[in-house]
Amino acid sequence: MTECKILDGKKVASEARERIAVIVKEIKESGKVPPGLAVVLVGDNPASKVYVGQKEKACKEVGFESFLHRLPEETTQQELLELVAKLNEDPKVHGILVQLPLPKHLNETEVIEAIRPEKDVDGFHPMNLGKLVAGLPCTVPCTPKGIMYLLEYYGIEIEGKNAVVVGRSNIVGKPVAHLLLQKNATVTICHSRTKNLEAITQEADILVVAAGKPHFITQHMVKKGAVVVDVGINRLESGLVGDVDFDGVRMKASWITPVPGGVGPMTIAMLLQNTLEMYERTL
Ligand code: GUN
Repeated sequence: MTECKILDGKKVASEARERIAVIVKEIKESGKVPPGLAVVLVGDNPASKVYVGQKEKACKEVGFESFLHRLPEETTQQELLELVAKLNEDPKVHGILVQLPLPKHLNETEVIEAIRPEKDVDGFHPMNLGKLVAGLPCTVPCTPKGIMYLLEYYGIEIEGKNAVVVGRSNIVGKPVAHLLLQKNATVTICHSRTKNLEAITQEADILVVAAGKPHFITQHMVKKGAVVVDVGINRLESGLVGDVDFDGVRMKASWITPVPGGVGPMTIAMLLQNTLEMYERTL
């Protein structure tokens, strides 16, 4: 049996970040203001705090300005919308990221729609998602962009392949399905109500899993030689695990992303890339 190879997100993300750092250094040396990312965190969701910390650190490492706004759990919708309006007008802020999920009393859709599409670094604004579906130039959400970058980096062929996406969120499942479709894959989207899921995943040449369920995809659900991309980050007592049973599935797959060290680092690298692209559009 040929050995399963690793889609090394940690390595590929680190190369992307180094490239961005070089560009930012040149920007600063030419006397221009650096790219700036505003991150808004509302409340005390522990996972969100970790993600926001990682994003801030990554910004600093490449030389971006990072503007962190930590708001208390009891922040009102009005207060949050006022902050977004202020960031929309701030010339030092090129990208705005409101960490999700927001506390239950806040209206996420309204907050996302309040971000100017040119500063919507997550690509979650309906204007950006609509353009993505239409195949027009837009800001692509960071995780789907990172997945496509990783597949391209390792020369994984997409055209004509059966791609199966497990999960239909606006953040990952739907956008990555459209990006795979744009690359001429035959795409199937599965979700919690899909009947006979394993019959579908067994046909996948490329399997992208964003189900949010630890070790949901097991060896018998995967076709021999498949490329398996695991978007899951599940915190168990035993540590971080993906949505894919890595040890079992690697016996069948030709390529697989590890957790951690696969898709996660790519998401952060693409956040930096999106911020840089938004900055460059303002020049
Ligand atoms: N929550 C989980 N993933 C993300 C992301 O990519 N962006 C934002 N804003 N919130 C998230």
